[in-house]
Amino acid sequence: MVPENKIDSDIVRDLHRVWHPCTQHKDYETVPPILVERAEGIYLYDRQGNRYLDVIASWWVNLFGHNHPRLNEALTAQLDKMAHVMFAGITHQPAIDLADALVRLSPKGFGKVFFSDNGSTSVEVALKMSLQYWRQTGKAEKTQFAYLKGGYHGETLGALSVCGLDIFRTKFEKVLAPNLPVDGPDCFRCPYGLQRESCNAECFEPMEKTLCENADRVAGVIVEPLVQGAAGMMMYPPVYLKKLQAICESLEIHLIFDEIAVGFGRTGSLFVCEAHDLQPTFLCLSKGITSGYLPLSATLTSDKIYSAFYGDRSDLFIHSHSYSANPLACAVANETLKMLTENNFLQTLKPKIAAIKEGGKLFDGLAGEFRQTGMIAAMELVKDKKEKFSADKRVGYQIFLEGLKRGLFLRPLGDVVYFIPPLVITEEEIAVMLTTARDCIHAVLKKG
Ligand SMILES: Cc1ncc(COP(=O)(O)O)c(C=O)c1O
Repeated sequence: MVPENKIDSDIVRDLHRVWHPCTQHKDYETVPPILVERAEGIYLYDRQGNRYLDVIASWWVNLFGHNHPRLNEALTAQLDKMAHVMFAGITHQPAIDLADALVRLSPKGFGKVFFSDNGSTSVEVALKMSLQYWRQTGKAEKTQFAYLKGGYHGETLGALSVCGLDIFRTKFEKVLAPNLPVDGPDCFRCPYGLQRESCNAECFEPMEKTLCENADRVAGVIVEPLVQGAAGMMMYPPVYLKKLQAICESLEIHLIFDEIAVGFGRTGSLFVCEAHDLQPTFLCLSKGITSGYLPLSATLTSDKIYSAFYGDRSDLFIHSHSYSANPLACAVANETLKMLTENNFLQTLKPKIAAIKEGGKLFDGLAGEFRQTGMIAAMELVKDKKEKFSADKRVGYQIFLEGLKRGLFLRPLGDVVYFIPPLVITEEEIAVMLTTARDCIHAVLKKG
């Protein structure tokens, strides 16, 4: 236990008052939280002036680095006009521009944008719209959602009901809606003995079976396209999504793409659906939408879905948040989209993606798998072959601590050390990030 007189007095105040998300506070007895005082580019600076590379882009939100002059300017320009206004019976320029831009940049089947204020709620919106659509179009028995056992879509109760990960759902299982979990792709431990680069998504079989057997009661199916983030950056090939889209179309099932983590350039293209010519029914977006400045999310859907809600007063979509479409957030999102789409920005990611691939070789010789999709990479560490380390060893947590000593803010998911840096990271910084992470891993594994 670190004695209180050895800790910054503001951290002591934090420990007395604040309850942090996804945190076992007992851990703070030995390693208190870092008091970050400022952030610049890809770095965070604590009160003592120590610098940490923000390897996971502050929970995958930051695209253009911290304290970016253009984003600051967009924010303050809007602040001078209006900080917030409700979004029913009132509209505003930043939201109108943003809705237009999102529709223009996403697949052509999207015509409408519903704003809310975080990733989980954008999923709630998609689920509720899907249920209400079927109810209003004569298929009220469609009330369930299929989801992948490795899927994560947020932690509010609705979103949790389509989350497959025990760590998030077990304690709440009894109150969750009875949706349909499906075995999904697990390319590292592929039960078919295939490779993700060359397979034909043979693992689609359980999904096909579930959807065919339950088509009458399935409203929709939700997936994180290409990368199942919280499951440990589990990556799978686009052919799985193509099969999924085809079966959803043939069985009249809504397809919900949760691109909250993978959207806005993370995979090397703006959106997975647009890059792979896929047309989901709903697209959930958040995180990078404001480049990590302010909470905002959007659920995109088609004019066809929207038209089922248009007409009688009783047909309206009853869903609102006090801060829906906050103008400051929308203004920063508009600037973010400009920056993502001008000067061939996405092309500039190509050498960085190649640098990550090259850097992956640093992990050769470690048991496990180094995997990459665009600007997202992960090293899954295992004890031997594919056997996991015992949880009480807390290998990932030890690596996190080692990272702090060496100027990296990592936050492994279990024993998966992953990298989702701000997109503006340079090739040189990528090399430093990966080399340092490799050193951290070696230091921890050597201790045994
Ligand atoms: C794929 C995915 N969906 C939904 C969410 C939930 O977003 P939020 O934390 O903003 O509620 C997350 C957050 O990590 C996510 O990665």
